[in-house]
Amino acid sequence: MIFSIGLIIGLISITALVLFVFAKLVSRHYCRNVQDGSGYAVLITGCDSGFGHQLAQCLDQKGFVVFAGCLCPQGAGAQSLARLSSSNLKILKLDVTSDEDVQQAKMMVEENLPKKGLWAVVNNAGISDWAEIEWSTIEDFRNMVDINLFGSIRTSIKFLPLVRAVKGRMVYTSSIFAFFNCLNMGAYSVSKRGLEAFADCLRVEMASFGVKVSIIQPGNFGRATNIVKMKTSSDIWEKLDEDRKHTFNRQYIDLANEYFMSTCNTGFKNSSMVIDAMLHAVTSARPKRRYLLVSAMDRFFFQLFPFLPTVLTDAVFSLSPMYAKRKEMLYAK
Ligand SMILES: NC(=O)c1ccc[n+]([C@@H]2O[C@H](COP(=O)([O-])OP(=O)(O)OC[C@H]3O[C@@H](n4cnc5c(N)ncnc54)[C@H](OP(=O)(O)O)[C@@H]3O)[C@@H](O)[C@H]2O)c1
Repeated sequence: MIFSIGLIIGLISITALVLFVFAKLVSRHYCRNVQDGSGYAVLITGCDSGFGHQLAQCLDQKGFVVFAGCLCPQGAGAQSLARLSSSNLKILKLDVTSDEDVQQAKMMVEENLPKKGLWAVVNNAGISDWAEIEWSTIEDFRNMVDINLFGSIRTSIKFLPLVRAVKGRMVYTSSIFAFFNCLNMGAYSVSKRGLEAFADCLRVEMASFGVKVSIIQPGNFGRATNIVKMKTSSDIWEKLDEDRKHTFNRQYIDLANEYFMSTCNTGFKNSSMVIDAMLHAVTSARPKRRYLLVSAMDRFFFQLFPFLPTVLTDAVFSLSPMYAKRKEMLYAK
């Protein structure tokens, strides 16, 4: 009896393994690799600065027709991008919170589409800010989610039919804060966790159409782009009402601001790791579902973190010296 059960389990495992390897081989055979972009177009949002700006230049050099969505087409970032690129790169006015801009961008893309079509959309536009949840207003949350989450959803829904037609790629720039919940990143985490939920659902739906969906999860690249919102502790303090001033006190706000700014200053100075991952997601035959972009030292921690029980992930924070200082300082005179 035990022998028969063992035999059945063994046979099922071997069959599953054979089917898995077979499926991988078949999918590899049918996956397209687009190292030479000629004839293909790519749309990237948020190209005024940072990752989007650099990716646009790289894809232009690879021969793609690049539609570079910029918040301010007349601004210094968009103008320098146009100057440094070939005539295949087109600057579009694209505020991802505006239905009208997204509609206009689609018309412009359709009118200028090269013969092989729109191969990829890189949803990159985003903002960041930091604040404890009690220091924030609903407007702070709404603004973050409007750009980082609804901006990508709006753009995706509009452009999906074009990408689906060529079995292309959808890429989403998320963050480690999609799964790493910590002090001060509430609004940003909400927007990026929502973005990953959207991208994960889309990947499942798009698989049968041959469209691949990738999520880019950069860690701290605060020194490499314009993402860090500079603010002083006075900026935070002046927004608080008397009750919150009493709860948090000025010394703690000073400390939190100093701590946040110094953490940003320990980030990567250049974006090449992120740009390489984005290029892989757009051009490789086998793009990854997720690209975690942190230092080699941090990789193990961040890979493990999403699988730990909540009691342990919460404990990680309560053990940190900053958390302990915060606890001592709250309500202090
Ligand atoms: N740098 C990091 O450490 C890091 C880490 C994790 C994730 N990320 C993500 O990476 C993405 C790119 O950010 P980045 O680091 O390259 O920062 P960045 O230099 O500030 O680039 C973000 C771009 O998005 C644009 N943008 C802002 N609001 C927009 C809107 N409503 N519509 C269209 N574009 C808009 C910005 O335009 P303006 O310049 O005109 O404001 C800017 O060009 C973001 O989604 C960010 O959340 C960054």
